[in-house]
Amino acid sequence: MQQLIRKFTGHFNMPPAVAAQAPGRLEVLGNHTDYNEGFVLSCAVGQTTNFVLAPVSGSLCTVKDFRDGSEMHFDLAALDSKPPRNGSKYIIGMLNELRKRGFTPFAFNAALESHVPLSAGMSSSAALEVACALAFVTVANFTIDRAELARAGQGVENNFLGLKTGLLDQFSSLFGKRDSIIMSDFRTVEVLGSHQLPAGYSFVVVNSMKKHTLVDSDYNIRRQDCESAASKLAAVYPGAKTLRDITPEQLANAKDKLTGREFRRAAHVVGECDRVKRAAELLAKGDVTAFGKLLFDSHDSSMINFENSTAELDTLVDIARKDAACLGARLSGGGFGGITIHLVKSDDAGSYAQRVKAAYLERTGIEAECFICSLGDGAKIVEF
Ligand code: GLA
Repeated sequence: MQQLIRKFTGHFNMPPAVAAQAPGRLEVLGNHTDYNEGFVLSCAVGQTTNFVLAPVSGSLCTVKDFRDGSEMHFDLAALDSKPPRNGSKYIIGMLNELRKRGFTPFAFNAALESHVPLSAGMSSSAALEVACALAFVTVANFTIDRAELARAGQGVENNFLGLKTGLLDQFSSLFGKRDSIIMSDFRTVEVLGSHQLPAGYSFVVVNSMKKHTLVDSDYNIRRQDCESAASKLAAVYPGAKTLRDITPEQLANAKDKLTGREFRRAAHVVGECDRVKRAAELLAKGDVTAFGKLLFDSHDSSMINFENSTAELDTLVDIARKDAACLGARLSGGGFGGITIHLVKSDDAGSYAQRVKAAYLERTGIEAECFICSLGDGAKIVEF
């Protein structure tokens, strides 16, 4: 952050007024449950996006992106225009969402840097949304609670960018807790509790380096499938509002009311909610082996029921299954490419990562990116 502050000052010839930092996130368990008002285990990671700004007069905003050296400009008078192709779309989108909540946008110079891998499934866009939102509301002294800030970030995706995502990414970036996995309820939009990752274990993140091109429409179609399954199940189980309200037994008993596809989509979400609850109990008991098995089960369900895995993600999880050092692995995030997470003993993490990389290269010809993830704190303002 200190380096970004220095770079900002050199570039704009003025010091920033505020510095905000927001982490990426890992979805540990609970895949596509958030928009079904279900449960998720997630964590913030050590990698953050840093955003600094100083208000200026007029209506022109300038953002220097130190990730690639580019400079982005936009006018406050044109916030409603079509989203630009560059990263400023997240910032403009956030100004729009905050404005809906009573905030008055002001012109500024800003700079950002990020260590969150782009387009990998670690929520680099949510990290930027949250970091700039915190900077804006802090400078303007605008009161808004963290859950509502997360909703504003979700609004950027839903309303400005047309991706019908849930709240998980922004929520985890805001509510993450160092060295902890948080369990969240996306009906009440609150953290129900947090669990330490048992001492001596780490998550190795392995990026498959492949992303489908139609991810956004695939994602939205999955959401529609879940909603149509939920509305048919509500006819059988009055009072059930979303898939969160359905137990695995209820779903099995109503199988004939759904199409095959709706049943499989629902089976994934209902199964994930159930696994999250069991996983939280296992973590509380420190039973890391049984917890790891649930990660493998989750991946199987993605593969078979939700069909949001890819050949590359399956290869990575298969490599994990054959390596005795790995307790559990699964795709993490929206799916259709991106990352897998692998639970291993911290002492084995370095050599495990090397083995996975080598096996993946041999089987797919692709050089995977691997890193050992630390579990970081949620977004914050950094004093300087
Ligand atoms: C993406 C979305 C989240 C969540 C996950 C899947 O990361 O942005 O809201 O739905 O996929 O769990």
